[in-house]
Amino acid sequence: MTSRISQLADAAPAVLPSLLLCDFGNLEAEVKRLQQAGVAALHLDVMDGVFVPNFTYGMTIIAALRKLTDITLDVHLMMVNPEKYIEDFAAAGSDIITVHAEATDDAAACMQQIRNAGAAPGIAVNPDTPVSKIETALPHAELALVMSVNAGFGGQSFIELTLDKLDHIRSLPGGENVILEMDGGINSSTISKCTARGCQLCVAGSAVFKTDFGTDYRSAIDALMQEVGS
Ligand code: DX5
Ligand code: ZN
Repeated sequence: MTSRISQLADAAPAVLPSLLLCDFGNLEAEVKRLQQAGVAALHLDVMDGVFVPNFTYGMTIIAALRKLTDITLDVHLMMVNPEKYIEDFAAAGSDIITVHAEATDDAAACMQQIRNAGAAPGIAVNPDTPVSKIETALPHAELALVMSVNAGFGGQSFIELTLDKLDHIRSLPGGENVILEMDGGINSSTISKCTARGCQLCVAGSAVFKTDFGTDYRSAIDALMQEVGS
């Protein structure tokens, strides 16, 4: 395990802000606020308009963030043919690169490619995809990302059935060591369901950026952490 990712394991359970809903016109100020809130990593959603119907940003934004901060960058690639761009995302400063099992024919090879590029490899699985689809990648992965909404948009409702995947992953070869992350629909009503089942990293977009706390992200994150007793 790389030191960056073992630091994340030590920080667990932790809320990772998904910047999808942040103010991109004021990226520097947003990063500063998140840094002051003490976040362990920034979750960055890369969407290509093909793998998912939404389109966000690519390595330019990752590189810009890398210049602004030393915080761990957790890059979630929602794109087809991720193997084409892994080196570029690593060179841009990604610490963790997660690809979707549905987006590649050889997820295990992708994990190795990410590691060779100098980042920590993660494997993601959409709600409708069985865990069996990530079995070959798991022994080569450092993180498993269980999507609790269908990848593509912030602000969707948490899909409870996806919680079962956490135990399933842990029971598989390689699954005992990965960091477990969930992403989508995590808020004050759902976060404790995730952590109670062993989720270590809880990604939150709306519950950090679209709350009554406004830009007081520390309070928004504290409110989530209170639900998990931390
Ligand atoms: C969805 C993204 C998530 C999303 C989470 O495809 O991967 O990271 O931004 O947003 P909320 O917390 O609003 O569901
Ligand atoms: Zn994400």
